[in-house]
Amino acid sequence: MASTAAPSAIPPADLESFSSRLKSSTRILALLGAGLSAASGLPTFRGAGGIWRTHDAMQLATPEAFDTDPGLVWQFYNYRRHMALAARPNAAHYALAELSGRKEGFLTLSQNVDGLSQRAGHPLEKLQLLHGNLFDVKCTDFYCNYVQQNNYTDPIAPALAIPVEGTDPTSFEARHAVSSALLEKKTRKELDIADESIYLPSVPAGDLPHCPECKRGLLRPGVVWFGEALPGKTIDTVNQWIMDSKKIDLILVIGTSAKVYPAAGYVDMARSKGARVAVVNTEQGDARGLTKDDWFFKGDAAIIVPEILKGVIGDVR
Ligand code: APR
Repeated sequence: MASTAAPSAIPPADLESFSSRLKSSTRILALLGAGLSAASGLPTFRGAGGIWRTHDAMQLATPEAFDTDPGLVWQFYNYRRHMALAARPNAAHYALAELSGRKEGFLTLSQNVDGLSQRAGHPLEKLQLLHGNLFDVKCTDFYCNYVQQNNYTDPIAPALAIPVEGTDPTSFEARHAVSSALLEKKTRKELDIADESIYLPSVPAGDLPHCPECKRGLLRPGVVWFGEALPGKTIDTVNQWIMDSKKIDLILVIGTSAKVYPAAGYVDMARSKGARVAVVNTEQGDARGLTKDDWFFKGDAAIIVPEILKGVIGDVR
């Protein structure tokens, strides 16, 4: 079952048994997590250097946090949009896009909000975004249903601009450095910040993106925050696909710690439909509950995924 990092080191027996299963499979699910985009330079959430290791999720990724300080939250998401726009899909994104195009019964469940699968040309009708998309925005006014998809404006509001290195120190840069430090749960005392003017990490609501339709509400990132339900239409589509499946042959579990539900629950759902599980992860510890009929491929998704899919998609790099 277990295998090592470099492609050539994947035990041939594992690669062979997996490839034959992949070739014969007509119904495949793929569950994707932040580890898929690690090789594209985007941090994961819980791994080493993970976002939630250095930033307080409760201060940044909850509806309550947005109510309390929308400026702080928008600084965080504007920064993540900026990083995601600067990143590029890697070989694993392209390989999965290729496989999904070649397999009729294929559905990708992505927890990622970075837009890289879409930019790799993944067929959209075979891609369900469980946690939303950084590049969608929606109005927060109770009476307004405004949603804008594929908004790639960077910065999304001038006041959120991430300044270029070496500009005016009392500008947003200093505030940004301070806000990052604050986001890293450091107190003013620890930061030894005397000057109030650069302490306030937030951006006034008036400078934040507002709804062009109702003109009342603030816009918020189109992602699913902790404590929020997943998009109803997405869940219905996924559940319908699973229910319509007499059987599911395989589920690929790529770069996820599988700790966040309901996303992580799809592995057992697929298993209950007869699926064998193939995990790609740098950490064996995050490949829980595997049986002798499953596969664990240890290593960087950007290297391993193109390799293990080669039997069906050929060489995609
Ligand atoms: N290749 C493969 N796997 C990797 C790589 C890599 N290069 N780098 C890290 N990993 C693995 C880690 O070992 C870990 O198991 O990717 C996983 C990342 O796990 P998390 O950081 O928990 O991210 P994810 O599983 O996507 O989180 C789920 O939680 O924070 C919320 O909404 C957020 O969608 C996210 C959800």
